[in-house]
Amino acid sequence: MNAEPQVRADGRIEEARKRVFIKTYGCQMNVYDSERMADALAPHGYVETTDQDEADLILLNTCHIREKASEKVYSELGRLQSLRQRRAAAGKSTMIGVAGCVAQAEGDEIIARAPMVDLVFGPQSYHKLPELIERATTERLVETDLAGEDKFDHLPPPSRKAAVSRGYSAFLTVQEGCDKFCTFCVVPYTRGAETSRPIAQIVAEARDLAAAGVREITLLGQNVNAYHGLDDTGASVGLAELLYRLAEIEGLDRLRYTTSHPRDMDRDLIAAHRDLPQLMPYLHLPIQSGSDAILKSMNRRHTRDDYLRLVEKIRAARPDIALSGDFIVGFPGETDADFAETMRLIEEVGYASAFSFKYSPRPGTPGAEMDDQVDPDLASARLTELQALLKRQQVLFNRSMLGREMDVLLERPGRKPGQLAGRSPYLQAVHLDAPEDLIGTIQKVLVAGIGTNSLDCALVTKASFQTGRFGSRIDSQS
Ligand code: 5AD
Ligand code: SF4
Repeated sequence: MNAEPQVRADGRIEEARKRVFIKTYGCQMNVYDSERMADALAPHGYVETTDQDEADLILLNTCHIREKASEKVYSELGRLQSLRQRRAAAGKSTMIGVAGCVAQAEGDEIIARAPMVDLVFGPQSYHKLPELIERATTERLVETDLAGEDKFDHLPPPSRKAAVSRGYSAFLTVQEGCDKFCTFCVVPYTRGAETSRPIAQIVAEARDLAAAGVREITLLGQNVNAYHGLDDTGASVGLAELLYRLAEIEGLDRLRYTTSHPRDMDRDLIAAHRDLPQLMPYLHLPIQSGSDAILKSMNRRHTRDDYLRLVEKIRAARPDIALSGDFIVGFPGETDADFAETMRLIEEVGYASAFSFKYSPRPGTPGAEMDDQVDPDLASARLTELQALLKRQQVLFNRSMLGREMDVLLERPGRKPGQLAGRSPYLQAVHLDAPEDLIGTIQKVLVAGIGTNSLDCALVTKASFQTGRFGSRIDSQS
């Protein structure tokens, strides 16, 4: 592939660098994967660019979860075709690759439907990316093996420079794939069977991130609380144990994990919410529906009552925990009474935030074959009603913060001059006036106002001896 030589400030010509543009769709795991792809390419002379037009390599990291998400890929590829032609007219070649879950599910179809695509590769092949790119210069490739070697044994860790540039809150995949087979979901097919990374590998990556200044890590997995990685003695341990190990890392002040299945919320994990100050009081715990009949047909393998009792236990362990969830409306067979049960469950639980979707039949999943598909207009009407309720709950939750003090991780400059943006322990977006040197520190703030989607806060004090990104120490003013 061609790439222009760079003229350095001292006038010397630097070896040609190639530029890669990665566009990420879908979930946080895809965000993490895109970072790891950039890390895998860096030793091969690729630098990331945010400008598609200057990219020698364009990668789309795709999502297959709902039809809308999948279709986006094909329209984007259409646009990339003209970009490639423009660049070709200027004598530059462009390689186009499709990664992620659409690649996994529809590899051959992409190659057939989209002639501009050089390379299609699934989530378990990311460590082979440099080699795949090399091969794709001479042939169009599809690489969608699910089993095989463990990519995490081969993916290089993020360089310190890369970690620093990605901010103070980082994602870290600890578990991938799913064995639950909910009847609506493509994940068991696109990400494969459940696998967990060994504890030592995760702790090493977390240490590197902390050393680069990262203050908060969100552990990722499609079914993260089913985590069962090997420890140094070869014994299999759960997510709670992993959290305790990560909590020992100096500088790592905040831990989160997502996304969880109710059946895997075990006693140890609930106790960790009681005992571990680093574990933030926020839990994403999807139930999908409040109707037992629909839960059964979704193959969730728990009832609404199991879920409600679980929520009780979690709240007993950590009374201020903020709950979040996912809901699907219009699953096949959902009656008005089933939907009313979901609304009633939401009322009963009280969510701080939640995601909700209209059911999208996905090819190859049992749900797509079910007879009694719900009329899409009826599903849309239910979604509107459900989202209005969730919005009301979110506003109530945010209002309940008014006048309270809380610790906020200040992550970046805010939208307005003089402002910084960060996150509350409950994952709410926070804005406040504060000096830039506080970015990367955790500060006590007072919630002074409630915006639509964020809290307006005021700095209470500069906490004493918070270590900033480059080890600089910020002295207490109070
Ligand atoms: N249709 C609609 N929503 C879905 N989700 C997963 N599969 C589907 C589907 N086929 C939602 C679930 C899941 C979230 C990631 O996406 O709520 O928890
Ligand atoms: Fe999308 Fe699910 Fe794949 Fe994440 S795992 S990219 S949400 S299909």
